[in-house]
Amino acid sequence: MLSYRHSFHAGNHADILKHCVYLNCLGYLQRKDTGLRVIDTHSGAGAYALTSEKEKNAEYLAAIARLYDISGAPPVVDYYLNAIRAFNRNALKYYPGSPQLAANLLRPQDEAYFFELHSSDYRLLNTRFRQSKRIHSSNTDGFAGLKRLLPSPTRRALVLIDPSYEIKSDYRLVVDALVQAHKRMATGCFLLWYPVVDRGTINSLEKQLCGSEMSNIQLFELGISPDNHGHGMTASGMIAVNAPWTLREQMQTALPWLAGQLSATPQFRIEQLKD
Ligand SMILES: C[S@@+](CC[C@H](N)C(=O)[O-])C[C@H]1O[C@@H](n2cnc3c(N)ncnc32)[C@H](O)[C@@H]1O
Repeated sequence: MLSYRHSFHAGNHADILKHCVYLNCLGYLQRKDTGLRVIDTHSGAGAYALTSEKEKNAEYLAAIARLYDISGAPPVVDYYLNAIRAFNRNALKYYPGSPQLAANLLRPQDEAYFFELHSSDYRLLNTRFRQSKRIHSSNTDGFAGLKRLLPSPTRRALVLIDPSYEIKSDYRLVVDALVQAHKRMATGCFLLWYPVVDRGTINSLEKQLCGSEMSNIQLFELGISPDNHGHGMTASGMIAVNAPWTLREQMQTALPWLAGQLSATPQFRIEQLKD
């Protein structure tokens, strides 16, 4: 039984990092006219009303709310902030999750597949996108769905794997899913999000990915405090396989800037894990 609801965390520092990288990759891949298959294995509800969760959890206040009105951010962040602003029109009241961010940018030749297991969040997701012929939402396991959807007809795909890691086996499942998906279509761009709660777990995740047949693996991590074993999420990261060649350079400006805006003890990592 899944209890995680992304609405409590929408717009936090992890979402900022994840969605900056996701949007940058999507924008880059759409420079080519050929259709793109977007696969979001763990979609959540699609979008969130921030104010309704305010009393219960105010993670967004320490994150997106701090950046929302800033101008002159590095290009990756600016592009992301403009997407959040476009969804709100005026004051910050809503946060578009990964499905909504992708849906807003889909072209007629693109298609998107969203997976969400939690029944309430799936209902919201499906209601939001059911009118679109190019968007397919499913109340089934995203790991299994990913396998079925690759290779894509055009051999072009952007995959986001973003579990809540509520179930410990997710740390193993993400590696299996990523390696299997890459075997089915080595040309895809794959993005895997991870939380830093226990550094040893992340070291092991990196080791397993580097030991696989995959190449061109990069890591981008943003932290708000130093590692603090077992005392909650202090940082989070995106592992990117076959990211656009421009991403690393862009993140070299974006990550120090973001870390400085969001924390008094800024932490970030940029690594080429494997060439
Ligand atoms: C971190 S949230 C997703 C947030 C979303 N990607 C975003 O950026 O807006 C993870 C979601 O995955 C769902 N989930 C957990 N295991 C799943 C699975 N095996 N397949 C599909 N969804 C799953 C959870 O219910 C939760 O809503």
